[in-house]
Formats: sequence, structure tokens, C-alpha cells
Amino acid sequence: MHIRALNSVLFKHFFKNKYNRRSMACSRYEYVKGYEQDDRILPNVWIVIRIDGKKFHKFANTHKFEKPNDENALHVMNVAGIGVMQEFRDIVLGYGQSDEYSFVFRKDTDAFKRRAAKLLTYVTSLFSTSYVMSWPKWMQQPLAYAPCFDGRIILYPSDENLRDYLSWRQADVHVNNLYNTAFWKLVLESGLSNQQAEQRLRGTLSADKNELLYQQFGINYNNMPAMYRKGTILLRKRVLQFGQDEQDKGRQAIVPLHEDLIGAEFWRKHPEILGKYVPGKQQLLDEKSLPKLLEQQLTDHMEEKARIS
Ligand code: GTP
Ligand code: MG
Repeated sequence: MHIRALNSVLFKHFFKNKYNRRSMACSRYEYVKGYEQDDRILPNVWIVIRIDGKKFHKFANTHKFEKPNDENALHVMNVAGIGVMQEFRDIVLGYGQSDEYSFVFRKDTDAFKRRAAKLLTYVTSLFSTSYVMSWPKWMQQPLAYAPCFDGRIILYPSDENLRDYLSWRQADVHVNNLYNTAFWKLVLESGLSNQQAEQRLRGTLSADKNELLYQQFGINYNNMPAMYRKGTILLRKRVLQFGQDEQDKGRQAIVPLHEDLIGAEFWRKHPEILGKYVPGKQQLLDEKSLPKLLEQQLTDHMEEKARIS
């Protein structure tokens, strides 16, 4: 009698709910979970995720991007970058140029328990879907096919490594953009074939290309839009609009900047990136100079507020 009562309690304990019944039924298969690898990223390192457009050379041609820089297409990239940073609060900096975007997670992030595959796939897919969603807001022609992006994770142990990584990406913009600007001027305005333009630029140094642009096309390269020359840096800031008091809290937003990040000045000006993470200090922005991307965030916020109230 005593044993029967005990059995009944045990029976109720194991079979009282669906979950237990299911886990009992599946238990012989559960060993397969052991094949999943623990891919948690080691602690205390900068986590950089860089995504890059797949065959964007073809994608840009199909969608008739302006050469060498299509302002609106670059904004689609920037809006997608902002979308990723709005979702992942632990990203302290985004950096975009051409068809690529890098995201820097703070060293002590615990997002997705630092599981590499989760972080990488989430960022890459969110970027891709945000890109597609924001496309119609900026581009005239509809998307001819779905763009896609690859992604990689790179870990940097020191601040110096991280700065060098970002400097490397920004130096890449400079080299490519100077070359591409000169190349397309020769092709589109001087009527050279692609091959002739390539030949004309072969072996030239930066100074030669600057000189060519100035002498032949009256262009001072340094006066070209900073977004083309420097890429776009996304930082979290508390934004004060024109006329707001310095003491105001302002509103947090992701601010696009097109500054030089290779020199020390940038890191002095934005100490929140490498320091203990808090949103950057207020920035006073003149309404006239309010960048489009920021303006859109502030407008979206106002629209959201209006919908809620
Ligand atoms: P994979 O990344 O290897 O798949 O090849 P890819 O064709 O994407 O080349 P890559 O990532 O090295 O370079 C990006 C390419 O995108 C550039 O070479 C350009 O052809 C194109 N691209 C990016 N931004 C612009 C733009 O604003 N205007 C134009 N015309 N092309 C752009
Ligand atoms: Mg690419």
C-alpha cells in the first residue's frame, strides 16, 4: 500500500504536464544537442562585426548607382547601420563606406551571451532586412533583386588594435575614392575608355591624382563631400537642437559623422568610445546643418510619440 502511494506520487510528478511527456518521448534523441559547439567569444575583447555586400559591383550597375559615389545608396547603407545600432545598444561605434559596415561592440557586452554565431547572424540579417526596407525611401528605382551581405567577426584585444582596424578601413576609403574619382572623371568627362583611364592612372601617387583632378577638372579633392572621402561614423550622442540649453538632457540619437578617425583628435573628442560606456556628450546642432539621417530619426521619434499619445 505504501509503495503504491509512492508510485502514484512519482507518476504524477513525471507525467503531470505536456512538457514532461514530450521530453520523455524525445529523450533518446537529445544527445544530438551535444554536437552543438560552444562558440562563446572570450571575455574582455573588442568584438567587431563587418558586413560586406555580395557582388555589389553588379548590384550598383543594375540599379544605376551614380559613379563613383551614389549619395542616396550610401544613405540606404547608413540607415541600415542605424537600424542595427538601435537594436544592439552595446554597439558603441558603426563605420560604413562603399558596400561595407563595421560594428564595434563594447568589450564587456553580454549580448547573446557573447555567442559568436548568434551575434553574427543577427547583425547580418538585421542589416540586410533594414537595407531592403529603407531602400524605397531613398531610391527612385525599385529593387531588381534581393541584395545580400556576408559577415565576419574579428576580435581585438587592445584599444590600439581597434583604432588601427578602423584606421585601416578609413585609409581604404581614401585610396579607393581618390582613384575612383579620378578614374570616372577621365571616363565620363574626358571620354577615355576604361582601359585608357586605367593606363593613365597606373603608377600614380596620391599627389599625382590630386594634381590631375585640380589641373584637368578644376576639382580640389579636399572640398569633395566628406562622406565620400571619410566614410560614415555612427556614434550614440545626446543631441541638443539649435536653441536648446546646454543643461537640457536632449534626446539620444545615433549621429552620423564624417570625420577623420585616424588622428588622435577624434578619440579625444569622443572619449565615450574607448572609455567606460555612456552615451557621448551633447552636440549642438544648427537646424540647417542637421544631417538628413539624424533629422529622420528625430522625425520618426516625433511621429511615434504622436501615435502613442
Ligand atoms: P564581393 O564583395 O567580393 O562580393 O564583390 P563586390 O563587387 O561587392 O566588391 P567590393 O566589396 O570589393 O566593392 C564594392 C563595390 O560596390 C565597388 O567596387 C563598387 O563597384 C560598388 N559600389 C559601392 N558603393 C558604390 C557607389 O556609391 N556607387 C557605385 N557606382 N558603385 C558602388
Ligand atoms: Mg562587396
